[in-house]
Amino acid sequence: MAIISDDNDFGKQNLKTKNPIIKTESIEYDKTFENSIRPKSFDDYIGQSALKETLKISIEAAKMREKPLDHLLFYGPPGLGKTTLAGVIAEQMGTDIKITSAPALERPRDIIGILMSLKGGEILFIDEIHRLNKVAEEILYPAMEDFFLDMTTGKSQTVKTLRVPLPKFTLIGATTKAGELSGPLRDRFGIIYRLQFYSIEELAAVIKRTASILDIKITEEGAVAIAKRSRGTPRIANRLVKRVSDFALIKFDGVITDEVANYSLDILNIDEFGLDTTDRALLNLIIEKYDGGPVGIETIAAALSEDVRTLEDVCEPYLLQAGLLQRTPRGRKVSPEGYRHLGKKINNLQQSLFD
Ligand SMILES: Nc1ncnc2c1ncn2[C@@H]1O[C@H](COP(=O)(O)OP(=O)(O)OP(=O)(O)O)[C@@H](O)[C@H]1O
Ligand SMILES: [Mg+2]
Repeated sequence: MAIISDDNDFGKQNLKTKNPIIKTESIEYDKTFENSIRPKSFDDYIGQSALKETLKISIEAAKMREKPLDHLLFYGPPGLGKTTLAGVIAEQMGTDIKITSAPALERPRDIIGILMSLKGGEILFIDEIHRLNKVAEEILYPAMEDFFLDMTTGKSQTVKTLRVPLPKFTLIGATTKAGELSGPLRDRFGIIYRLQFYSIEELAAVIKRTASILDIKITEEGAVAIAKRSRGTPRIANRLVKRVSDFALIKFDGVITDEVANYSLDILNIDEFGLDTTDRALLNLIIEKYDGGPVGIETIAAALSEDVRTLEDVCEPYLLQAGLLQRTPRGRKVSPEGYRHLGKKINNLQQSLFD
């Protein structure tokens, strides 16, 4: 499988690039750290088992019919494996994948250029698809539905519409914000799937796999200790194994045990729930300054000097899922578990609001 991309995270870092296709040279899968540990097959892709089963069946059926796979939309918090899964699907289908992201598709010719460059059966991966502009979306509709482009030529009275056929392709869209996708665009995907946070066992498996690729020695307990603090997210698990392995090497005898893991993660300020300084600052702020909430996300962001989008996309999903934070129509509220986790006492007024 040739991956056509302009960087190591499948086009992610270069969101501001004006060059939507992403240079044409194929880069090998394993040139950088993320790519070297990125699973390439379903066997290596840990967890998400319900989705994997559905996908395997759809892929086999598409292959038998010699048709491309239906368009797919993956959504969920960052680092859960959306981009990785798109690569696995291409590998499994035996096709190439072209990777871009919505902010790179600013002008109509950007999206038209990409669509016209596709070959039959290829996969087009559009990251951050919720950020696609209206014009690009409208070009995509007939392309997704009937595989043609509506091109207009001439000016005012002489304007003509030309239907240009496209090869049959599969669009895979990924987003951290499915709610911001327009209805018509969402409706054109055959499979829409939310990626789930990973269990401790699944993350421990991710960690052991990464450790073995990177030649890091780790015990079962060491893997579980890191998994517990990885916020249900493989990208974080991988990052932590690397950081802990530095401690293991310099401060210990090179092996990551649970003691080494816990010692290192404490120093790195990652608590036993996986919360980091920002997460705790967010919960603390709501408790201390706003009596536990509810308080609006803009107010929280301003007080923490953080970006609203970072809080919404990166911090909140895990805090919500872990039951430490609650989202209400009037803003964010710290749950009784959140108080407990921070060792704070909940007052009677707050308690009565939860009862
Ligand atoms: N199911 C999995 N099994 C093993 N490793 C995984 C899995 N999912 C993700 N990873 C690892 O986590 C890293 C991040 O995954 P990926 O880039 O696919 O996340 P993403 O959902 O696309 O994130 P973003 O929303 O930030 O684009 C990858 O480098 C990969 O090594
Ligand atoms: Mg991604």
